[in-house]
Amino acid sequence: MEIFRTKLTTPDDFRESGLKRCLSAFDLTLLGIGAIIGTGIFVLTGIAAATQSGPAVVLSFVVAGFACAFAALAYSELAAAVGGCGSAYGYSYVAFGEFVAWMIGWDLILEYAVSVAAVANGWSGYFNNAMKAMGFMLPEALTKAPSVGGLINLPAAAIILILMGLLIAGVRELARTNMAMVIVKLLTISVFVGIAAFNVEPANWHPFMPFGWFEHDATGRPVGVLAGASIVFFAYVGFDAVSTAAEEAKNPQRDVPIGIIGSLVFCTVIYIVVAGLLTGVVPYTELNVSSPVAHALQLMGYNWASALVATGVITGLTTVMLVLYYGLTRIIFSMSRDGLLSPIFSKVNPKTHTPVRVIVVCGVVMSLVAGLIPLGELAELVNIGTLAAFVLMCFGIIVLRIRQPHLKRPFRLPYHPLIPTLGMLSCGALMAFLPAITWLRFVVWLVIGMIIYFSYSFSHSKLAGK
Ligand code: ALA
Repeated sequence: MEIFRTKLTTPDDFRESGLKRCLSAFDLTLLGIGAIIGTGIFVLTGIAAATQSGPAVVLSFVVAGFACAFAALAYSELAAAVGGCGSAYGYSYVAFGEFVAWMIGWDLILEYAVSVAAVANGWSGYFNNAMKAMGFMLPEALTKAPSVGGLINLPAAAIILILMGLLIAGVRELARTNMAMVIVKLLTISVFVGIAAFNVEPANWHPFMPFGWFEHDATGRPVGVLAGASIVFFAYVGFDAVSTAAEEAKNPQRDVPIGIIGSLVFCTVIYIVVAGLLTGVVPYTELNVSSPVAHALQLMGYNWASALVATGVITGLTTVMLVLYYGLTRIIFSMSRDGLLSPIFSKVNPKTHTPVRVIVVCGVVMSLVAGLIPLGELAELVNIGTLAAFVLMCFGIIVLRIRQPHLKRPFRLPYHPLIPTLGMLSCGALMAFLPAITWLRFVVWLVIGMIIYFSYSFSHSKLAGK
């Protein structure tokens, strides 16, 4: 069937693409940490502890961390073997053919664009609070979307446009800014850990698992450690964005796997420590607030530290947006270069070596969406989209080992096919724990994607007629 036409892997896949190869393994690891640590740990940990898992939110992080580790190993093998544009889109093109690649690319557009717009809404809340604390107040109409009684959420729209400027400037500039902000957010986390470690009340860890592993509450909503894992999974979203930097990595076959696995391992350790301490210093029932880490510090009497945490959250959320926005542009760029989206998106500016048009179009659209629609609730939609990509990547490993057994694999995931199978099962299970409304939204998005594929992409593909 023509819709399953595949791209072949060739040594050419590691060639120059017009983008500048300037990212080292260290830069890629920092990009991963930039994309990973954000809303998840600073906000969702508290909500998941209070409403889903109790102190066992630590176990929710462990469960979600395992699912991500299996997927990260799969991404690493693919990044080292397949090359090209990277990302679940690029790898699916080789493993499953064009239709699946298109669908997963379309899915990634949703994942990254919704993440950026949703995180911009959260960012705006923290930014407004910080401004208020310093005595500058924006008029309320400029801090809210029209549907919630304002005109526009100006800070949310503005931050995306600022990041747009940075992305246009070049990937080196992006990596440097990211590094500075990652240092700030890690310092913030260290301050919290340093203080909390001396204030733990072991009694707060009892009962440890008040909602069990997997149950339903009175309203039918899934609760428990596993349902909590499918929520805190959002905290891990982002390490996959490292693979979208494949064409800008100095030595992609070696550095992309290091960036993916390095950033994930580092953040998993941080998450487990922070979640354990947070539920140890404050009763989990008090954590259902917009900034649980700052709240916990206030309850312990450290008001100055809580202001510091606000700075950490603001920088943390900025790096998340920055890296996911970057990933989004690189995916659309590759889909356009392959003919599946309009060719206007695949032009690289010869001065900055960045795909300026796609950066501007994505920036303007996401800025309008973030300014005009209150999107805070959509983390679960991001989770389902990301989990679908992870399931597919684990399956891709198995398919490619059968279809292309002799492909050079500088990195091979261990215990094949056990690891990719566990990856598919664990990510699939986390998808199953998500609410029905999330599934519905996801299916609607995929149906729209299918319509675009058959009405445009199929006939415009570079592989058409070959
Ligand atoms: N992992 C990112 C966050 O937690 C998306 O904000």
